[in-house]
Amino acid sequence: MLVTSRSYAEYEAMFDLSELPDSVLDCCAGGASFTAEAAARGVDAVAVDPAYELPAAELVDTVRRSLPAGSRIVDQHADSFVWTWYGDPGRKDELRIEAADRFLQDVAVAPERYVPGTLPELPFGDRRFELVLCSHLLFTWADKYDRDWHLAALRELIRVSSSEVRIFPLVNQGAGDPVEFLPDLLEALPVRSEIRKVPYEFQVGADEMLVLSLD
Ligand SMILES: C[S@@+](CC[C@H](N)C(=O)[O-])C[C@H]1O[C@@H](n2cnc3c(N)ncnc32)[C@H](O)[C@@H]1O
Repeated sequence: MLVTSRSYAEYEAMFDLSELPDSVLDCCAGGASFTAEAAARGVDAVAVDPAYELPAAELVDTVRRSLPAGSRIVDQHADSFVWTWYGDPGRKDELRIEAADRFLQDVAVAPERYVPGTLPELPFGDRRFELVLCSHLLFTWADKYDRDWHLAALRELIRVSSSEVRIFPLVNQGAGDPVEFLPDLLEALPVRSEIRKVPYEFQVGADEMLVLSLD
């Protein structure tokens, strides 16, 4: 799996964020710069990802290699992507390179913000974060992780949140096929769920996030 580095601007659009609450978890944060930028805005922001177990040099290498690898997936499924949000591939690469740089700088100066951890068991107490974000793990990798794993992962994201969990996208990686077990999964959750449109689309038709509300 790729350790990609989406930017704060991409997170803002994918999750339709305006103001951030006091505490936010980016779960499966990879090389994203969201946590660094949220922390710079005064938010108690934490990133969790199994990749943070890697020795520093290997993490740098993994994040850097994920950019061309991600672009190859897009090239292989060119008909399944639209460029309305990014404008063109050059702008996307620019955002991702800047985000990777920002992430790698922040890991070096504030390693306490980057916690190694793997769903469906996160190393945080119950209700630790007001908002929990999950970009490009659940549903994206539904060919690798089955329905039961998704249910356990969603329950864990709910456990560590005191208010809201947001997940994007709701389709498989590559061609963007729908995830067949999604409706059934929502029925099985102990909280209110809503599928909400967002001002971002890259995979064709993937312009919705899942919002789980705990209050
Ligand atoms: C495609 S990347 C997304 C990174 C970042 N959220 C973004 O949007 O650019 C998927 C991330 O999920 C992480 N990952 C893989 N399995 C995981 C698991 N079971 N629990 C948490 N993170 C996982 C990978 O290490 C990788 O960094």
